Amino acid sequence: MVPKILVFAGSIRTGSFNARLAARAVKELLEAGAEVTWISLVDYPMPLYDGDLEADSGQPENALKLKRLMMMHQGVFIVTPEYNASIPPLLKNALDWISRVRERNEPPLAAYRDRVFALGAASDRASGGIYALLALRQMLEIGAGALVIPEQFSLARASEAFDEMDDLKDERAKALLQRVVQRLIETAQEQV
Ligand SMILES: Cc1cc2nc3c(=O)[nH]c(=O)nc-3n(C[C@H](O)[C@H](O)[C@H](O)COP(=O)(O)O)c2cc1C
Repeated sequence: MVPKILVFAGSIRTGSFNARLAARAVKELLEAGAEVTWISLVDYPMPLYDGDLEADSGQPENALKLKRLMMMHQGVFIVTPEYNASIPPLLKNALDWISRVRERNEPPLAAYRDRVFALGAASDRASGGIYALLALRQMLEIGAGALVIPEQFSLARASEAFDEMDDLKDERAKALLQRVVQRLIETAQEQV
């Protein structure tokens, strides 16, 4: 079975390091034989989560759309920036809404179950967004009951990490990204 993998970054900034890393992950996934959907959260704007708004206005259409899209894939690769040792509000808000929206007869947190997640982060700092990776893993595994592969990809000094073709300069980093991609594909193939 050719696994379907959804890829997105937690940044919509022009020139985002994480969007560039997501693009790199897409290339590796395609080369490893996956079917890939690559999206940007800019196309899924959502209001800031607020229980009153949810009660008054119902479920945001874009949260439903993104949830449905996740459910059409066996794997999801999320690449996140680090903001104050956690994940940015853009990503947290989207993931929170997806944990709330439900369609008829659907169990809670359906988009987080029956599929597998892989995580990456890029930062210009030496720590490579490691706290964002931890925060995202905590949210997905403990908060949403998702399966997240143990391998993860952290890119430090991101402003110097890409060559002119947007490939990773460091061979070890490239090999690690390939390992994450391989494990994601293998685990996604088990999610039928
Ligand atoms: C509010 C805020 C907090 C930040 N906190 C951190 C941090 O804790 N660790 C870190 O490595 N970078 C931090 N940064 C820098 C981001 O990693 C940097 O802006 C990065 O380029 C964002 O990702 P992007 O390039 O994909 O947009 C912070 C940036 C902002 C705006």
